[in-house]
Amino acid sequence: MSSGFNTRAVQDGELKINEFGNMTTPIFENSTFANPNESANPEMDHTRGKPYMYSRWGNPTLQSLEKKYASLDQVEEALSFSSGMAAITSSVLALLKKGDRLLSVSELYGETFLFFSKTLPSFGIDVDFLPTEDLNRGDISLKKYMAVYSESIVNPTLGVCDLDRIGKLAAEAGVPLLVDATFASPYNQNPSRFKASVTLHSGTKYIGGHADILLGLAGFNRGYMEKMWLSRKTFGGIPDPMQAFLGLRGIKTLGLRVKAQNENALRLARFLEQHGKIRKVFYPGLESFSYHEVAKRNLRGYGGMISFEMRDGVPAARNLMKKLKICSSAPSLGGIESLITLPIDTTHASLTPDERKKMGIPEGLVRLSVGIEDPEDLIEDFQRALA
Ligand SMILES: Cc1ncc(COP(=O)(O)O)c(C=O)c1O
Repeated sequence: MSSGFNTRAVQDGELKINEFGNMTTPIFENSTFANPNESANPEMDHTRGKPYMYSRWGNPTLQSLEKKYASLDQVEEALSFSSGMAAITSSVLALLKKGDRLLSVSELYGETFLFFSKTLPSFGIDVDFLPTEDLNRGDISLKKYMAVYSESIVNPTLGVCDLDRIGKLAAEAGVPLLVDATFASPYNQNPSRFKASVTLHSGTKYIGGHADILLGLAGFNRGYMEKMWLSRKTFGGIPDPMQAFLGLRGIKTLGLRVKAQNENALRLARFLEQHGKIRKVFYPGLESFSYHEVAKRNLRGYGGMISFEMRDGVPAARNLMKKLKICSSAPSLGGIESLITLPIDTTHASLTPDERKKMGIPEGLVRLSVGIEDPEDLIEDFQRALA
């Protein structure tokens, strides 16, 4: 029987060297390794099944993180990257080439959207965008596509991709499905269970968990390793071992943190939903949210992200953000502290108003990343600031 999530988060992947008796993986802050390695029993770099040689190829601290993450996200293999964007760009470019066509959900993280709408076409890779609700209907032919890309919970409108349905469709068509599951985190969802070929995370968020690193992770079946590894070492988006170490430390408490964030977010979403100054709350865990049924089938927990619209639009949103005391005004998400942001000013500022409209992002939408503070304090903070 496989161990529980928190046991695996603590125990798996650690590099314990008996001769030292170290209890946690050391930071291998070195660029190169002896070659050839004359040891009778060398440690192997899992990316190639050979002794370590050069840290852009593979590194023991990174490997510990990759093994621990792979165990939590139920994938055979994983690679870490210098940021979520490095994981996304390297993975997509590992699988697609000039002349290929990608199908993507249209509600994407702003930078991913720029990569798909500007960079990929300039490389001769075309991208078709489809709203999540259309993709979820599952009545599309994937014949002309070389890959399908989705965010399992979309940023910032929190629609939920029906991976249960899309995964089967992609598998039947023999098309790899890539899923950015940053918002869900491996605690709330394992896209590989829905036949996703590549799972992507901005490890900067829930996996790191403390808003102090940039990190990316990609998880996949063994068959993808060579392509993915070549892409990582060619584009060079490898994390520094110190960043990997902090990611490794952070991921150990992922289950405890996200459980608290799931609970806090549901309580806060219910509070906001009944407040007279709020027009609409976007949260997968609310029965009133149009994606709730899809969320129930695809997620183990509804996550720590909430978006909402104030009745009095952008000025009221800005006013609220100034008045909050516990919840700080900043982009990014997934850390232990609650953060609030206006996507038009931060995460989606690089898009035109028309592009945002097409993604269904109202100008006054407020995005909230709920932390692990006590829920009574968070609710009180909002109650006071809204008053
Ligand atoms: C859903 C999602 N994917 C990817 C990224 C990019 O991650 P990073 O900032 O680590 O490059 C972000 C960043 O906010 C994100 O929200």
